[in-house]
Amino acid sequence: MSPTRIDLVTTPTPLENGGALPGGARLWVKRDDLTGLGVGGNKGRKLEFLCGEAQDAGADCLVTVGAAQSNHCRMTAAAGAKLGLETHLVLSGDEPETLEGNQLLSQMFGAIQHHTGIKANDWESLENFRQKLTQQLRTKGRTPHSIPIGGSTPVGALGYHRAYGELMQQCVAIGFTPDVVVHTSSSGGTHAGLVAGLVESRANGTPHCPVIAIGVAKGVALHAESIRQLSDNTLHLLGLSHRTLMQDVVIDKRFLGQDYAVPTQGATDAAHWAAHRGAWILDPVYTAKGFSGLLGIDAEGGFEGFHNVVFIHTGGLPSVFATNSH
Ligand SMILES: Cc1ncc(COP(=O)(O)O)c(C=O)c1O
Repeated sequence: MSPTRIDLVTTPTPLENGGALPGGARLWVKRDDLTGLGVGGNKGRKLEFLCGEAQDAGADCLVTVGAAQSNHCRMTAAAGAKLGLETHLVLSGDEPETLEGNQLLSQMFGAIQHHTGIKANDWESLENFRQKLTQQLRTKGRTPHSIPIGGSTPVGALGYHRAYGELMQQCVAIGFTPDVVVHTSSSGGTHAGLVAGLVESRANGTPHCPVIAIGVAKGVALHAESIRQLSDNTLHLLGLSHRTLMQDVVIDKRFLGQDYAVPTQGATDAAHWAAHRGAWILDPVYTAKGFSGLLGIDAEGGFEGFHNVVFIHTGGLPSVFATNSH
């Protein structure tokens, strides 16, 4: 049986020609910031499958977890609003006096926000809180569908397996196969899904190219073996027995800076470059660091001989308007 997907996002998202990079390759920007659900972003694609799973399980509410300014939490709140499911968000940090950015939107979508006081990089404690809350809801007779941080389960990663195919089709329609796809990675589901897409396309002999993940959090995303396994488990859900190779999983950790959500000069410069070049708005926590990785690799000659480089813009707009991202 193929996994259930509920229509939540507007696809295919645009693929914009971004002109030449300083190193000479052509930049393409895949506008997954425009997926549409609750002002857009990558998590909408994962939520199509995660909410399909919730529906199949007969869930009457959603629970998930993230950093205070989590885009994933905001988009889960948006999905909950659309599907009429009460949504609980377990968030790092204390309750702010004034809600901003993603929290403000989550409130507008009607989500119940649990401000835990836990630090944003303490994923273990945040996950424990989510599990406890899920159990409490069950004890009260509810049927929660509980989604781990970032929605990065094999079911969630199906969204980016699908996106890989969508992107390759768009490139082929324009007349090229990209040399590389670069994107921002945190909990790893986006990366694993893209890698699963790569592995399947390679096995089928259809156009494909490598994926480079720019890591922006010191979490599971930095362990290549967990991404390899997640990719294999995603393929398994589709009834495919192809195996992901270690060399398929490329994570570049050099652009993270001090820690998750701690600004870097490279990211500030990259956001400026992108805003001026294509009016693309990059956020300081995720996409600006991811794009600083792309520009950094380009500057050191990493794309030499390449003709087409795709950056997947994974969203993050609301945190541009938030003063505290932790
Ligand atoms: C804007 C943005 N880009 C990229 C990512 C990374 O995605 P993943 O958690 O699947 O690695 C996130 C995750 O929260 C995000 O919000």
